[in-house]
Amino acid sequence: MKIATSLAVALATIGSIAHPMIKKRAITDGDILNYALTLEHLEDKFYREGLANFTQADFAAAGFNESFYKNLLEVSYDETTHVTFLTDALTAAGVIPVQECTYAFGVTDVTTFVLTAAILEGVGVSAYLGAAASIINKDYLTAAGSILTIEARHSAYLRDAQGESPFPQPFSAPLDFNEVYTLAAPMIVSCPAGNPMLPFKAFPSLALDPASGDVKTNSTIILDTEGYFLVEPQGENIPIYAAWISVTGPTFVPATLLGNNKIQTTVPEGFHGQSYLVITSCNDSVSDDTVTAGPALVEVVGSNGSP
Ligand SMILES: *[C@@H]1O[C@H](CO)[C@@H](O)[C@H](O)[C@H]1NC(C)=O
Ligand SMILES: *[C@@H]1O[C@H](CO)[C@@H](O)[C@H](O)[C@H]1NC(C)=O
Ligand SMILES: *[C@@H]1O[C@H](CO)[C@@H](O)[C@H](O)[C@H]1NC(C)=O
Ligand SMILES: *[C@@H]1O[C@H](CO)[C@@H](O)[C@H](O)[C@H]1NC(C)=O
Repeated sequence: MKIATSLAVALATIGSIAHPMIKKRAITDGDILNYALTLEHLEDKFYREGLANFTQADFAAAGFNESFYKNLLEVSYDETTHVTFLTDALTAAGVIPVQECTYAFGVTDVTTFVLTAAILEGVGVSAYLGAAASIINKDYLTAAGSILTIEARHSAYLRDAQGESPFPQPFSAPLDFNEVYTLAAPMIVSCPAGNPMLPFKAFPSLALDPASGDVKTNSTIILDTEGYFLVEPQGENIPIYAAWISVTGPTFVPATLLGNNKIQTTVPEGFHGQSYLVITSCNDSVSDDTVTAGPALVEVVGSNGSP
């Protein structure tokens, strides 16, 4: 199943929202817990809404059995519990917890619901992993770790139920705050005015073009972006790169700006399953100063152990 292609379609349908530029300041544990809570609210609402949209009979008609449905109820319960847990932890620490926002998930049927669920769980794993090193309080770090392992189980289960490898890589990819915010922002329509502002921003969106088809190692892929940050100096011959994110550091691959907000690049070796790449203006660092768009989420078929 083409997860990334469908996400591209979903994101294209949802469109994007304006993101106020937020002044840079030091990131506190309170910010990180509120960032985690922002994602948990999104997931919690996603499952509650999906389970209200579709009955067990709808799931059965789409090929998902009774035990799958029961496990989905458990996943939904887990996300609601994460919301309560983080809300209580923030309140106990004297920080105002963010409230649930209004979302546009772009789900049209059971199949896109399960597809989107698997993607959200995968992003959740990468978000907790990427945030871990910034958490100062060890108790919060352990709590975040205990949520991460559950998101990873959800991800594996949902991938397996769709015929995807449950664990296609020996390592998960860590995503940083702005990268995760970029992926989540298109689903967030509006938030309560009283929500604390978090010091994170979204990069211009980047999504796999559906014309890319099934994506494998060495495939040439096309990416769509809505607001590519043009690098200086501008010009057709200025090199740009796709940086594929991994825990051991990015793998840079040359990319080509095709015009029409399309970028062409290739899939390097060693990336399988739900993978992420950003477009950068150089080939030796990925940072707020060098990322010009993305991340894009790309499902690379196969796995490392059995390609
Ligand atoms: C629920 O249904 C509405 C209306 O079709 C749709 O817009 C929304 O994305 C669906 N959400 C989920 C999570 O299934
Ligand atoms: C139900 O579906 C799940 C998820 O695909 C699968 O693991 C399980 O074996 C199925 N159970 C039965 C009884 O078919
Ligand atoms: C990818 O391309 C490289 C370089 O041409 C080649 O050595 C490698 O075998 C290819 N890998 C796959 C999985 O096709
Ligand atoms: C990295 O970028 C430099 C220019 O900044 C270029 O000379 C070099 O060939 C690039 N290396 C790769 C592997 O693309």
